[in-house]
Amino acid sequence: MQHEQMTALLQQRQQAGLLRQLKVLDNVKGASLSYQGKSYLNFSGNDYLGLSADPAVVAALAQGAADYGVGSTGSPLISGQQRPHQQLCAEICDWLNVDAVMLFSSGFAANQAMLLGLCAEDDLLLLDKFSHASMIDAALQLPGGYKRFLHNDLSSLQKLLKAQQSAVGSTPPLATSAITSSTTQSAEASQSGDLPKQTPVVATEGVFSMDGDSPDLLALNRLCQQYQAPLLLDDAHGIGVHGEQGAGSLAYAGLATTTAQCLMANFGKALGGQGGFLACSQTVADYLTQGARHFIYSTAISPAMAVAMTASVQRCRHDQWRRDSLAQNIQWCQQLAARYDLQLLPSNSAIQPLLIGDSHRALAISQQLAEQGIWLSAIRSPTVPLHQARLRITLTALHKKADLEILFNSLVAVL
Ligand SMILES: Cc1ncc(COP(=O)(O)O)c(C=O)c1O
Repeated sequence: MQHEQMTALLQQRQQAGLLRQLKVLDNVKGASLSYQGKSYLNFSGNDYLGLSADPAVVAALAQGAADYGVGSTGSPLISGQQRPHQQLCAEICDWLNVDAVMLFSSGFAANQAMLLGLCAEDDLLLLDKFSHASMIDAALQLPGGYKRFLHNDLSSLQKLLKAQQSAVGSTPPLATSAITSSTTQSAEASQSGDLPKQTPVVATEGVFSMDGDSPDLLALNRLCQQYQAPLLLDDAHGIGVHGEQGAGSLAYAGLATTTAQCLMANFGKALGGQGGFLACSQTVADYLTQGARHFIYSTAISPAMAVAMTASVQRCRHDQWRRDSLAQNIQWCQQLAARYDLQLLPSNSAIQPLLIGDSHRALAISQQLAEQGIWLSAIRSPTVPLHQARLRITLTALHKKADLEILFNSLVAVL
């Protein structure tokens, strides 16, 4: 692309109130952050349990770096998977009661590996309409294509499953996965509704990142079983937060993690670190190890991070007070919103969005809140649909009731 074209596009985005700009923070700690020397109450982070600066986790990172070095020095199959990585995998296997865990440099990479690896050429991926960009980008590359069902709408999913069941047409003979396939069906073709009989695979999220809501996993699982569709679940925002010992959205629904053929989660949110993982059966892990490009051709996570994340998972499992405190904050947030007649989107998670609509307005409100010492970013298109700009309030176990009162007093003043 030519430089002039880029400048024109940037101007267009600026005029539409959609220009994204990087802000370099001094630091982010607990429920607050500092920017250009000024302190703010932070309602935009994903450190739901306050583990990113927990002394035990910080000490583990330092000790891990001293013992094993900062970098893993290689991809997992070459030299990158070391004892700390193995210990982290074992800790997660025990936590989620699964046979195998694979580590990735990010949740984004883990999601891509899951979808590209586990959807065979004769599979059709059925994906929730509000799925994260990491899943959509993988879906676009699938040889068998994908279709989207309406957000959290099981009747919409069932329609697609039924259509697949009754589809005529021939099934491709060889069930190779996208990781070994050379053919790529375009998204347009995959959306056309004129597909041969394919095996459905369902993918969704435990907690949706921009809405904070969740599917009815019990009912969704029943549908998947009825139509023999494997379930691939992204639980980036549910892990650590929901379920006993923070085992995630499936545990919260009373389901085993193994209900999903593969569960993706990450370390960058409730666990306060960085990286992603897949939790699955040994067969699934062995299969992905043969071809998952994000696993094979990428440097393994830092061994120091693996030591830190082992400590973080242990804290997360043990410290029920963090989940209790977060649950209390969610309740207070909803009560304050109701008191001031502010309509939050329906959500029982740490993500409590306030819909604004217009991007300019959302941005202006966010800036006015910042003047009052509140950091609450405006989320705009294309992260959310156009005209559905919002203030995505995210809560942590470390917020105090007084912090929430300040937030709502300021919101009322600004709105
Ligand atoms: C739902 C969801 N899935 C996947 C990811 C990607 O995870 P990571 O940030 O570890 O790459 C995110 C993070 O933004 C997310 O919100």
